[in-house]
Amino acid sequence: MRERPAVEIEFLKKRYGKFVALDGVALSVPRGTVFGLLGPNGAGKSTLVKSLLTIIRPTECRGSLLDKSIGDRKTLARVGYLPEHARFPDYLTGREVIRYSAGLAGVPGRIAKERAEALVGTVGMGDWGDKKVGTYSKGMKQRIGLAQALVNEPEIVFLDEPTDGVDPEGRIEIRKLIEAMREQGRTVFVNSHLLGEVEQVADEVAILSRGKVIRSGKVRDLTAGSRMFEIRSLGPVPPEIRGKLETAGLEVAGDRITVPAADAGEVQGVIDALRAAGVVIRELKEVRQSLEELFLSAVSSARQEGGKP
Ligand SMILES: Nc1ncnc2c1ncn2[C@@H]1O[C@H](COP(=O)(O)OP(=O)(O)O)[C@@H](O)[C@H]1O
Ligand SMILES: [Mg+2]
Repeated sequence: MRERPAVEIEFLKKRYGKFVALDGVALSVPRGTVFGLLGPNGAGKSTLVKSLLTIIRPTECRGSLLDKSIGDRKTLARVGYLPEHARFPDYLTGREVIRYSAGLAGVPGRIAKERAEALVGTVGMGDWGDKKVGTYSKGMKQRIGLAQALVNEPEIVFLDEPTDGVDPEGRIEIRKLIEAMREQGRTVFVNSHLLGEVEQVADEVAILSRGKVIRSGKVRDLTAGSRMFEIRSLGPVPPEIRGKLETAGLEVAGDRITVPAADAGEVQGVIDALRAAGVVIRELKEVRQSLEELFLSAVSSARQEGGKP
């Protein structure tokens, strides 16, 4: 049986009262990859993760998490989570936080102790593991936060703004830890409002703006200069020609053909092929937004909204 993606959201809607926080989101996270959910503050990133983890109840939701329906609580034993603005009791030590989390995840005591030992080392907190959380910097708290998220050896780890408030050096460390998680075969789902942070580590990203995914795909594809042309045909592209275009590396979706090309000259051959096949061309336009531009326009449109970000 083909393994499904680690996360497959077919449709997710969440309303808080009349306010629509997630407006029919669909996304898919391949196993063993780092996935970045990007978007300005208030876009709905935390709401999405909390919906997957049954912390809040979505208004409408179809999809799967680790091959089980979203909302199945037993699946959560296979999931790790570092919440946004995570706060651990100041009077616990780093090791105690990890063991506490192990307890919540149902990891037996002796194993929990061994894992806590190993994990404080993994996150570079070996010398600090017996000091109280209250004495830690923000970066150290986040490292312990990452360690506690791994204590049940999860197949997928959700990290909500893991570098928030962490200094540049600490951010690099966190990035390395995320890469190490992927090397261990885990899927990592990272929420961030910082494009640069995630761009460097994520295999794929989705940009969320006001509850909608406005762009998604491999970082490589989304950032590769992204000069493209979009051809729209009258009605869907017929299957024969569609197959040929796809073989040539073009993306075809319904009546839309996307041609990666630096100038309009390169597109003419595609147009000729389409017309030879009897396809009527309705529109040709250049698509030039890079990932960063898209992200920034999402941020500024969110700002202009006023009131609710
Ligand atoms: N419990 C809640 N009640 C009402 N509105 C909420 C609640 N939680 C979040 N929101 C609103 O939903 C939107 C998305 O929030 P959130 O998911 O936290 O965004 P992000 O994590 O992308 O910053 C925001 O406008 C926020 O104000
Ligand atoms: Mg958030």
